[in-house]
Amino acid sequence: MTYSRNALELDSIMNIEKEKIPGHVAIIMDGNRRWARQHKLPRVEGHRRGASALEGILERAGDLGVKTLTVYAFSSENRFNRTKKEVNDLMRLIKYFIIKKRKDLFDRGAKLGVIGNVKVFPEDLQLAISKTKNLLKKNERIKLNIALNYGGRPEIVEAFKRIMTQKKDVAEINEELVSKNLDTNGDTDPDLIIRTGGEYRLSNFLVWQACYSELYFSDVLWPDFRPNDFDRAICEFQRRKRRFGK
Ligand code: FPP
Repeated sequence: MTYSRNALELDSIMNIEKEKIPGHVAIIMDGNRRWARQHKLPRVEGHRRGASALEGILERAGDLGVKTLTVYAFSSENRFNRTKKEVNDLMRLIKYFIIKKRKDLFDRGAKLGVIGNVKVFPEDLQLAISKTKNLLKKNERIKLNIALNYGGRPEIVEAFKRIMTQKKDVAEINEELVSKNLDTNGDTDPDLIIRTGGEYRLSNFLVWQACYSELYFSDVLWPDFRPNDFDRAICEFQRRKRRFGK
């Protein structure tokens, strides 16, 4: 059966069960450049529209009661597989978001987290991140984690390096200790991971934490991803039977 987008929108909103909202949703925001190409616009415009799509989803996630939203904004590979101009444009956009949207984030009751190795970024961006994190630290409605220069495997390698410096006995090394030494320490594992843009893989995103996550793939390009598309993913999540390996 085929549905019009509007019919599905209504359907998805009506079926969301408030008691079964995933606590942590993570998103691979894919498709910005294809969106720009389709609209005959420069790549940066796709990323810009992607940033505004994120604002809408953050708002919707907060309204639904999602406690943590983690988004993949820049992978550790992106630094090497994109042109210098695109990387600079993206950095500028992320900095703009972190500085100019501070007040909006504050008003939305959002806290900010950043995962990934940000030490490679210019000092002004690192400073902007710390300042925004600090300003929002008491907010409790929703935590927005931005993955920047992030890769799941490098994160695990860093965790092991940290553990080595803690001089642990081999017997003390367990899953809990590894989790505690990841950048996501303190966050629950994602209940639901959404990937937009019609690709069906994790691309080094939260590989340790995704162990029991439900995966949801959408063909919608990220700049076109709207709260109703998010609702649809939540509805699908609520239909899944989670077994956690049992
Ligand atoms: C993937 O699409 C998207 C990115 C690598 C960047 C994501 C960034 C944003 C959504 C905007 C800024 C983010 C914040 C947090 C303000 P792609 O560029 O790989 O597109 P393609 O798959 O069509 O090539």
